[in-house]
Amino acid sequence: MKHRIEVAYLGIEVPDPHSLSPFFGDVIGLVAGEPTADGALTWRNDGKAQRLVVTAGPANDAAFVGFETIDDAAFDETVARLRAIGVEVADGDPARDATRRVRRLATAMAPWGVPVEVVTGLAEATTPFTSAAMPSGFLTEGMGFGHVVFATTAFDESCAFLIDGLGLAMSDWLEMELAPGLALEVRFFHCNGRHHSVALARAPFELPQKLHHLMVEVNDRDDVGAAFDRAFATDLPIPNGLGTHDNDGMFSFYVSSPAGFAVEVGHGGRVVGDDWDDVRQYDRISKWGHQPLRQG
Ligand SMILES: [Fe+2]
Repeated sequence: MKHRIEVAYLGIEVPDPHSLSPFFGDVIGLVAGEPTADGALTWRNDGKAQRLVVTAGPANDAAFVGFETIDDAAFDETVARLRAIGVEVADGDPARDATRRVRRLATAMAPWGVPVEVVTGLAEATTPFTSAAMPSGFLTEGMGFGHVVFATTAFDESCAFLIDGLGLAMSDWLEMELAPGLALEVRFFHCNGRHHSVALARAPFELPQKLHHLMVEVNDRDDVGAAFDRAFATDLPIPNGLGTHDNDGMFSFYVSSPAGFAVEVGHGGRVVGDDWDDVRQYDRISKWGHQPLRQG
């Protein structure tokens, strides 16, 4: 799979960044990074300096999402492609770029209402990555941080932004009736071997949170189970227990963060190759499982 870009990081804005620390650290098994110069808390899931940036503010939602290009040429191409479809792209700002720990940054507003940062040169951490809670480590090499899923009323514009602007490709899509008269439509997009780095759900109206969930993938199936046990031992909602998705084959579960959006912990997602020709509709979310387990 031609790999030019990957999800580098996700920014989350909540009133009290420390309120998410037990969740990200003890339940999900991320490892605290160095706070940024402007006081945001950061979390790692590999050798990079930071993959989650938790800032203080009222949004209670995703605040920005970073896409890292593999080199300067891919950075320039991506910015040019966004501009060619009429997207306003602003150049980096040295103070902010330092808080992102990247060498180059350009920013554009995605139609789903979250700023997208095209970056290159995300810094390495000064210490090796190891997580006692996730001994197998997270799968990020050549695939990026994980995946992010947004719900939006600006569905078609958002799909065009991903494909024609950022250069992602659609992997497949899901169309089904959740309940009589309640349709679900989700499109899944890849930009490297990961089956989807971004998915978009068509929202019937503006939802309180744009970020539905973020996913981190671990290298051992048992680490998913151990994370499930840790989540189960909390009183956090578990919107979906263990199961395997139909389209990406991911064995996973979902736990709601204290801020509302969910985190999916998974293993064994399908890998997209250059010969991917399975772009088709699915009509069920999961092969089995993912039952609603504990509501908020
Ligand atoms: Fe997911």
